[in-house]
Amino acid sequence: MKQISYDVLDSLSKKALDEAEEAMEKAYNPYSHFYVGAALFTDDGTVISGSNVENAALGPTICAERSAVVRANAMGIRSFRGIAIIARGEDFDTTEVTAPCGVCRQVLYETSQISNTDLVVVLSTTRKDKIVVTTIHELLPLAFGPADLGLNVRNYQK
Ligand code: THU
Repeated sequence: MKQISYDVLDSLSKKALDEAEEAMEKAYNPYSHFYVGAALFTDDGTVISGSNVENAALGPTICAERSAVVRANAMGIRSFRGIAIIARGEDFDTTEVTAPCGVCRQVLYETSQISNTDLVVVLSTTRKDKIVVTTIHELLPLAFGPADLGLNVRNYQK
C-alpha cells in the first residue's frame, strides 16, 4: 500500500479515476446521500464505471464497485487490471480515501481471479489530494475463491 500524489499517478489510473469521479455524480443515494464512483480499467485503456444505487429496503443497495463489475459483465468484459474509487458526502469532501466494503472486496477478488492478476486498487479522496494505491490481495488476504471449489476461472468465457 502506498500513498502518492495525483501528479505521479500513471495515465491509465488517472483516466479511470476521472471517469469514477464522473460516475460518482450519478449516484442514486436518497438514503445515505453518500456519493461513490468506481471505474474498472484494462491495460488497453478500456474504462467501465459504476455508481452506488440505493434502495428503500436498504439491504438491496448496490455499491459503485459492484455496479461497475455488473455493467462490465453485461458488456462482455470480465478481465481487468485495476479499479479506481472516489467518494464524497452530500455536503462534505472526504479527507481520507474511501475503501471498498467487505462484499465488494469479495466480488473484486473474483474479478482478480478471472483477470489472472492481483487487481490494482486506486483509492482517492474527493479532491484527489490523497491517493492510496493498493491491491485486492492486500485488502482481502487469504480470500475464499474459485480455487477453494477446485475451479480455475482465468479468462472465463462462455
Ligand atoms: N458504498 C459504495 O458504493 N462503495 C463503498 O465502497 C462503500 C459504500 C455506498 C453504499 C451506500 O449507497 C453508501 O455508499 C453509504 O454506505
